[in-house]
Amino acid sequence: MISTVRWKDLGTPARVSERMVDLEVDGIAVSVPEGTSVLRAAAEAGISIPKLCATDSLEAFGSCRLCLVEIEGRKGYPASCTTPVAAGMVVHTQTRKLADIRRGVMELYISDHPLDCLTCSANGNCELQDMAGAVGLREVRYGYDGENHLDAKKDTSNPYFTFDPAKCIVCSRCVRACEETQGTFALTIDSRGFESKVSAGMNEAFMDSECVSCGACVQACPTATLMEKSVIDLGQAEHSVITTCAYCGVGCSFRAEMKGNELVRMVPHKDGKANHGHSCVKGRFAFGYATHKDRITTPMIRDKITDPWKQVSWEEAINHAASEFKRIQAKYGRGAVGGITSSRCTNEETYLVQKLVRAAFGNNNVDTCARVCHSPTGYGLKATLGESAGTQDFDSVDKTDVVLVIGANPTDGHPVFASRMKRRLREGAKLIVVDPRTIDLVRTPHVAASHHLKLRPGTNVAIINALAHTIVTEGLANEAFVAERCEAKEYAKWKAFISEARNSPEALEAETGVPAAEVRAAARLYATGGNAAIYYGLGVTEHSQGSTMVIGIANLAMLTGNIGREGVGVNPLRGQNNVQGACDMGSFPHELPGYRHVSDTATRTLFEQNWGVKLDSEPGLRIPNMLDAAIDGSFRGIYVEGEDIAQSDPGTQHVTAALEAMECVVVQDLFLNETAKYAHVFLPGSSFLEKNGTFTNAERRISPVRKVMPSLSGKEDWEITVMLAEALGYPMPYKHPSEIMDEIARLTPTFTGVSYAKLDELGSIQWPCNEQHPVGTPVMHIDEFVRGKGRFMITEYVPTEERTSRKYPLILTTGRILSQYNVGAQTRRTYNSMWHDEDRLEIHPSDAELRGIKTGDWCGIRSRAGETVLRALITERVQPGVVYTTFHFPESGANVITTENSDWATNCPEYKVTAVQVEPVTQPSEWQKRFRTFTEQQQELLEEAREPTQA
Ligand code: SF4
Ligand code: SF4
Ligand code: SF4
Ligand code: FES
Repeated sequence: MISTVRWKDLGTPARVSERMVDLEVDGIAVSVPEGTSVLRAAAEAGISIPKLCATDSLEAFGSCRLCLVEIEGRKGYPASCTTPVAAGMVVHTQTRKLADIRRGVMELYISDHPLDCLTCSANGNCELQDMAGAVGLREVRYGYDGENHLDAKKDTSNPYFTFDPAKCIVCSRCVRACEETQGTFALTIDSRGFESKVSAGMNEAFMDSECVSCGACVQACPTATLMEKSVIDLGQAEHSVITTCAYCGVGCSFRAEMKGNELVRMVPHKDGKANHGHSCVKGRFAFGYATHKDRITTPMIRDKITDPWKQVSWEEAINHAASEFKRIQAKYGRGAVGGITSSRCTNEETYLVQKLVRAAFGNNNVDTCARVCHSPTGYGLKATLGESAGTQDFDSVDKTDVVLVIGANPTDGHPVFASRMKRRLREGAKLIVVDPRTIDLVRTPHVAASHHLKLRPGTNVAIINALAHTIVTEGLANEAFVAERCEAKEYAKWKAFISEARNSPEALEAETGVPAAEVRAAARLYATGGNAAIYYGLGVTEHSQGSTMVIGIANLAMLTGNIGREGVGVNPLRGQNNVQGACDMGSFPHELPGYRHVSDTATRTLFEQNWGVKLDSEPGLRIPNMLDAAIDGSFRGIYVEGEDIAQSDPGTQHVTAALEAMECVVVQDLFLNETAKYAHVFLPGSSFLEKNGTFTNAERRISPVRKVMPSLSGKEDWEITVMLAEALGYPMPYKHPSEIMDEIARLTPTFTGVSYAKLDELGSIQWPCNEQHPVGTPVMHIDEFVRGKGRFMITEYVPTEERTSRKYPLILTTGRILSQYNVGAQTRRTYNSMWHDEDRLEIHPSDAELRGIKTGDWCGIRSRAGETVLRALITERVQPGVVYTTFHFPESGANVITTENSDWATNCPEYKVTAVQVEPVTQPSEWQKRFRTFTEQQQELLEEAREPTQA
């Protein structure tokens, strides 16, 4: 979808009201919802009133005095942006007097503004320039002789945008954007009158302030004061294409603004239903990786991983991979090969990879990275509610009274949704945080959690049981809801279990480390505070009892009737852009698309008829099983699309040993990632900017991904899978991803109404989208649960086997940071590394002092699985006894120390609990030394191949 670059700004935000107000603007009758500003009412009638300080993404401020109007029966010239409409109002926006006033106002602005329009980076896209034209300003009577701000110093500290105060008109849009939209409050207007100026932090450079580089202020600025450096370098865009961010599960919609085939900037799309025009530093600015010099754009093969790579044609690479897979299957059996789909790829690509495995390999050995993040979500929500997905849309949070955040760090992991949530909290909603660490949300400007249950890692189920116990035994359950909507027998059993004294906050206090009174108070607030919504993340799922905890969360929501309407629900904050989609598309070894078991004959028959092959009725191997089988010798070849299991999966040494043991590792990716260093065939992938498809975000929202530039390798990822399938002897005659989606819709009941045409029409669609829900389903389980009656399930707390001991006295837990994204393959190749250029070990001052560790010291972190070395960061964010790190840099080796423990139901690794010892060291670990040597060798082998054509 090509759109114009400029987007219509209606001046002030839309109001929602059932009461409509009729008025007249310049003789035109207008009817708008009560509370609408006169400025917006005029704009909706097609009348543009000049404005500078107003924009429709921010509440009106009324400072520039440009939008003045005359209203019959009222004295003076009120600002139309701050004046609400009234019934019968008669407004005049264009009179001689108003024109004089506006020209006078503009004259003052321009007299303190550099007149370098022709060379200004905003030329052609500047509201000040537009307004000078709109008011008919022809001359400026005041020269530059008096005092002015023209020599004010530029701040270029932020890698993505500049701040040039000489061009600032002090309209305060940036300050309000930082407050209202982003919720960071990094900007203020310093001083008053002529002296007033925008200031970041305590009059600091942007990079030194609290600014998180979300870009909201840049977006709001009507002049070139805050300006993207990419626009300064490349000039204004010529056209734009609406597409979807390829980073996190929020799924923000963006306008990719282009000049020819070059991306000038990513602008958050106002009509994007997941983000409503907001963005974070990753989606907004961190797109440079897509054209980074490290991109590999020519296919390569080699016999052994110690051989140099050889660049070959697509045909040769694909035929080589196919013949190797066929050879392996002939020698070791049909089940000796498999594939891994990616949550970073599109639905269509993921669908094709699982189809290739099932139809062309003839087995079910397909799995996805959701195995290591949200597989317990799928299991737990399906078992209790009947559908493996979150229950709400993001907009739902606007109706929430109590937000319960468990094991998630939204301001870092899901920043745009976090801003939304913070706005609701500033409006008065209450917050409960359950997290071992003091995440930012616990206390941010104008937001403070009512309760922070700072539990010991690994005791989630004990906490959820204690919360439920309190609600049941204090008579706070919504028995009417339960009686009407849930299975009575299962509820009775569960109620008896949860009421037992051993599940009380008091009995579990010693285990969780959370005072019983605090747990009880939080439970009362959740049960009685109005609409209560649960948002959770990997701190819930990546545990040995991950699935149990998801079940416990669903139990809690059903118990209090907090499900099935706006403002409530159970909301997994999905990590990667398409982790929901990867699961929906049948990436798991036991499920065909739409979460239908491979053993179900009717489902298999449907796919067999459509795909023209016989399908295996036995579930295939999960990733950990594939790796074990590789070491045992029965699994010999793998096709990995867009995943980096050598960095992201637990037990790095085990993963790399398994990869080394295989005879054919085919990696399809943008870069020579950690897994590709063990590969025999490298197929260059395409970035999200180079292909068409769809992503499905954490709200089940299917959003279009649109090709904005040609693929650097000449192929889109789906085309590569098609080529491989055909070389394996299985035709996949698709001409465009829309045909793949049509097939998905034909075969998947929750997708039957989805098509590219409907996505173009609606912008995005939340599944289920079918005959019953033709435009999608924002909120699920409204009248009944997908499985009919909701099912309470017993959640016995079983402590993890990973216990601390004298040898390993601390618990290591892991998480993410705002500026980096997962394995960091993309963000490490952008300026985002200026915020976070290495993984650090957070340690409490008392634990650090005991060990003689200071911030910046190198620490050895030893677990039962392995050892690595990181620099220390001493902080009270973590509690005594707990250490924490991020996992964005491969050389950190976070997964060298994580153990093989995993969720009992899904094998999701227990990343969040590893018993460790920490001590000061002076050199890298043995693993890190081996890693560096191996990486250098692999880099040399790559460079040898690239020299003739790509160096
Ligand atoms: S920086 Fe831009 S948005 Fe902020 S006050 Fe100045 S002109 Fe207005
Ligand atoms: S980039 Fe975002 S956080 Fe930084 S000052 Fe602007 S609005 Fe605030
Ligand atoms: S919040 Fe997520 S989807 Fe939105 S811009 Fe940031 S990374 Fe992209
Ligand atoms: S736009 Fe109304 S006062 Fe500035």
